[in-house]
Amino acid sequence: MHLSKLLSFTQLLLSLPLVTSSPARYLDTRASWPYGPLTTKGRWILDSAGHNITYAGANWPGAADTMIPEGLQYSSIAGIVGKLKEMGMNVIRLTYAIEMVDDYYANGMKDTSILTSFQKALGTANGTAVFNAVVKNNPTFSANTTRMQVFDAIAAECLAQEVYVHLDNHMSKAKWCCNTDDGNSWFGDTEFNVTNWLRGLHYMATRASGWGALVSMSLRNELRSPDDNATLVADAYNWADWYENVVPAMKAINSANPNTLIFLSGLGFDTDMSPIPTAASLGSNYTFLKTDFAFADKLVIELHNYATTATNCTSLEASLYTDGYNAMNPADPSVVNVFPVVMTEWGHGQDAATYQTVYQTCLSSYLTGIKGGWMVWVLAGGYYIREGTQDYDETWGLLNHNWTAFRDEADVVSVIEPMVAGTKIF
Ligand SMILES: *[C@@H]1O[C@H](CO)[C@@H](O)[C@H](O)[C@H]1NC(C)=O
Ligand SMILES: *[C@@H]1O[C@H](CO)[C@@H](O)[C@H](O)[C@H]1NC(C)=O
Ligand SMILES: *[C@@H]1O[C@H](CO)[C@@H](O)[C@H](O)[C@H]1NC(C)=O
Ligand SMILES: *[C@@H]1O[C@H](CO)[C@@H](O)[C@H](O)[C@H]1NC(C)=O
Ligand SMILES: *[C@@H]1O[C@H](CO)[C@@H](O)[C@H](O)[C@H]1NC(C)=O
Ligand SMILES: *[C@@H]1O[C@H](CO)[C@@H](O)[C@H](O)[C@H]1NC(C)=O
Ligand SMILES: *[C@@H]1O[C@H](CO)[C@@H](O)[C@H](O)[C@H]1NC(C)=O
Ligand SMILES: *[C@@H]1O[C@H](CO)[C@@H](O)[C@H](O)[C@H]1NC(C)=O
Repeated sequence: MHLSKLLSFTQLLLSLPLVTSSPARYLDTRASWPYGPLTTKGRWILDSAGHNITYAGANWPGAADTMIPEGLQYSSIAGIVGKLKEMGMNVIRLTYAIEMVDDYYANGMKDTSILTSFQKALGTANGTAVFNAVVKNNPTFSANTTRMQVFDAIAAECLAQEVYVHLDNHMSKAKWCCNTDDGNSWFGDTEFNVTNWLRGLHYMATRASGWGALVSMSLRNELRSPDDNATLVADAYNWADWYENVVPAMKAINSANPNTLIFLSGLGFDTDMSPIPTAASLGSNYTFLKTDFAFADKLVIELHNYATTATNCTSLEASLYTDGYNAMNPADPSVVNVFPVVMTEWGHGQDAATYQTVYQTCLSSYLTGIKGGWMVWVLAGGYYIREGTQDYDETWGLLNHNWTAFRDEADVVSVIEPMVAGTKIF
């Protein structure tokens, strides 16, 4: 007892600066932004200088039919990243579809051009028109520019503007997400080929190693019950199957890119990670123990929440806690695996009425109280195409239809900016 007290006192001394340090001096000891690689320590995400980091950002969709990040027919990449910075945010959750990588392999290691992609998804006439508008706003692009080069260009701009990139595998088949009957719900679902998924994660982790702003990657967006296949639900929609698929996927990313954080998502559209913090039995004798993995300090939990009709903040907070936020509380004796938890999706209609709900005020106070990271759905004004409708307007979008201004300035000022200020540590 005495010895450990002595040791911790020595450690405390060692951790103290020799002279009174200003923040500037501390910064000077680091390399350059983003001061990666990031790691985790308990419930915190740290940069390479040991600063606590909290994500405060937004989703930028790129996993729909065209497989090209949205909005470029209305804005430059720099303009869209600039909108994020205007709100004080520090991270983008950039989504992609595995189909983009499948195409690359199917075409003899050749990525598809954006012109071809737009024409295929929107038809020749509209695809060409949208392509021309994209090039007008982003003059470094041409008919030869490929889809993945757009992702590269976004990452480069994020580096220039100091915005972290969190790369998210949203779907296998490129289209709007998510329904339980869309064929992309669970490992082995009609359009969710596990072999191709692992190959895609590995490919993107390798490619993104070259992006200075890449700090984290997800395994899969919103796992859910594959309700159009009762056999698959009965046989496989469970935590043991989750474990059997998630472990190789973590390894696929870590082996390609040992620096990136890896976000683990749960069942029920990623609203449920309940057995992971407590190391409960997952069935088939599986238990998730962080200590089983050499890269344990790279693992983060992500959760989504769309309880937009909530009427009781106390009960919403209680369910968030047992769904996985208990991972951030090492003082809870039932918690075995302590992790940072990031709410990688939440959101609501961008209109004056919606942001004053219990849902919104509760999430704001909860995440502010625990300094929990988040990304709002969605930094967009619309989509090239969604569910068959071209130039689809996104009423939940932070941006107006033509991506030039905020859709609901009052929401940004009253909700988003205070949440950024309340949660972002660094
Ligand atoms: C990170 O935050 C925790 C909790 O506030 C604190 O104990 C720790 O000292 C912080 N670490 C750094 C490097 O700021
Ligand atoms: C596209 O690539 C071809 C062959 O590499 C080249 O000849 C052509 O000039 C390029 N076109 C544009 C618009 O960059
Ligand atoms: C349901 O999923 C299983 C396992 O992937 C597959 O073998 C089977 O063909 C699927 N059934 C239907 C009707 O799609
Ligand atoms: C998954 O795709 C691969 C090609 O990459 C194919 O060989 C394999 O049969 C597919 N698996 C299933 C279950 O369809
Ligand atoms: C779990 O482990 C026990 C003891 O090793 C073994 O008897 C049992 O068959 C295992 N169960 C499953 C489902 O693998
Ligand atoms: C809110 O939920 C809590 C916990 O479930 C409950 O104790 C409380 O009575 C509820 N409050 C209201 C106003 O319904
Ligand atoms: C093509 O674009 C025009 C407007 O620019 C739109 O009216 C039309 O519906 C689009 N075509 C399809 C198939 O969506
Ligand atoms: C964008 O849309 C807004 C209305 O939502 C309009 O006032 C503005 O003129 C539009 N800008 C462009 C460049 O089309």
